[in-house]
Amino acid sequence: MKHQPVEGFSKLSKQGKIDWIVNEYLEGNDEYQKILKQYWNENPELQKLHEEFSENTVSNFYMPYGIAPNFLIDGKLLALPMAVEESSVVAAASKSAKFWLDKGGFKTTIINTTKLGHTHFIFEVEPHRLKHFFNFELKKKLLQQTEAITANMRKRGGGILDVELVDKTSELSNYYQLKASFDTVDSMGANFINSCLEQFGKTLKQEIETSAAFTEEEKASLQVVMNILSNFTPDCIVRAEVSCRIEDLKDDSGISPEEFAWKFKQAVTIAEIEPYRATTHNKGIMNGVDAVVIATGNDFRATEACAHAYAAKDGQYRSLTHCTTENGVFRFWIDLPISVGVVGGLTNLHPLVRFSLALLGKPSAQELMSILAVSGLAQNFAALRSLVTTGIQKGHMKMHLFNILNQFGATEEEKQYFVQYFKDKTVSHHEVISELERLRASKI
Ligand code: MEV
Repeated sequence: MKHQPVEGFSKLSKQGKIDWIVNEYLEGNDEYQKILKQYWNENPELQKLHEEFSENTVSNFYMPYGIAPNFLIDGKLLALPMAVEESSVVAAASKSAKFWLDKGGFKTTIINTTKLGHTHFIFEVEPHRLKHFFNFELKKKLLQQTEAITANMRKRGGGILDVELVDKTSELSNYYQLKASFDTVDSMGANFINSCLEQFGKTLKQEIETSAAFTEEEKASLQVVMNILSNFTPDCIVRAEVSCRIEDLKDDSGISPEEFAWKFKQAVTIAEIEPYRATTHNKGIMNGVDAVVIATGNDFRATEACAHAYAAKDGQYRSLTHCTTENGVFRFWIDLPISVGVVGGLTNLHPLVRFSLALLGKPSAQELMSILAVSGLAQNFAALRSLVTTGIQKGHMKMHLFNILNQFGATEEEKQYFVQYFKDKTVSHHEVISELERLRASKI
């Protein structure tokens, strides 16, 4: 069936929107109305709150919210909230946390916290003249004219750290940037940064138009293309690390600590030099990072984009984690660029986000950076530990077992049976289904 475009969809009531999509795309089947409505929260205020986070909302999309306990981070014992749909992620985090608990836990260091944004503009003028104008006239005006926007942030200890003029004309004709650095304290700061940059764009235009330093023709060539923060924050870095004596790397798979350390280090080195492996390796790290980013109401698209840009910063995509095995000591660490907030955004609005932050002891943004880096490192440790010993499928398919059983409407009794059945066997989709058929047939 060919579908018709819709006018004014956003203005329809929630029921109107559902009726339209079900009639237009789902043959008016009531079953689909029910699916959407069964996820509505029975508390109308809570439902409305969620609907208002976004646009054209017709239902809620649940994500499991789990807890990974026993994380010793800089001497504090924390339970991490993780919102993630992939089986094994929370289990892997918990396993790593426990492994490092009696080895001193995780240590973190905030390397820096600077965020960046740019006003991108085109101006047909010699670079040295623009530079002179920037240094002697424009820069102080940019700072003065953002004073009202930055007042509150300055009170909290942050604000604009610096503004530079960047000459990009060798890469694109007449292209320049105002590159600004910011300290946004406990907020992620997207709105603050973008407001400052939009004011920069206006000030730039106004100051050039009224300046005697440029000809009318030059002035007419000025185009402010856009003002926007950068999600690449290579100067907003946290390091998380673990270390222990190699002889303490005891694994229940039977591998010796020395062989474990050697294989583990090889696995990290492979991800440092081989982009195909680095992509999967870093994906695994982000399993841990994103789950906590989402649970704490932060923007996982931003953290993903930043992590991958950083992984490719020297021209080749590489591992975000590193490992050494020197003088009998195993050391494993991550340098994670990450910009997150604990005020603003969803942090005060979403009840579960408030819960997550309370569970974490109301961390500062820097403390949250540390927790996120630890979550990524722990996840990577668990993945590599499985990969270099038993292989990933053993644990993975055990967790996946419940997904397969749920798909076939297994009862609690059947689930218990299968947990026992696969205790010492590798789970496979085929084996689950044929055993389920056999079990059910034997009961008839
Ligand atoms: C799966 O989501 C993540 C892993 O593939 C990560 C890795 O291979 O390191 C297990």
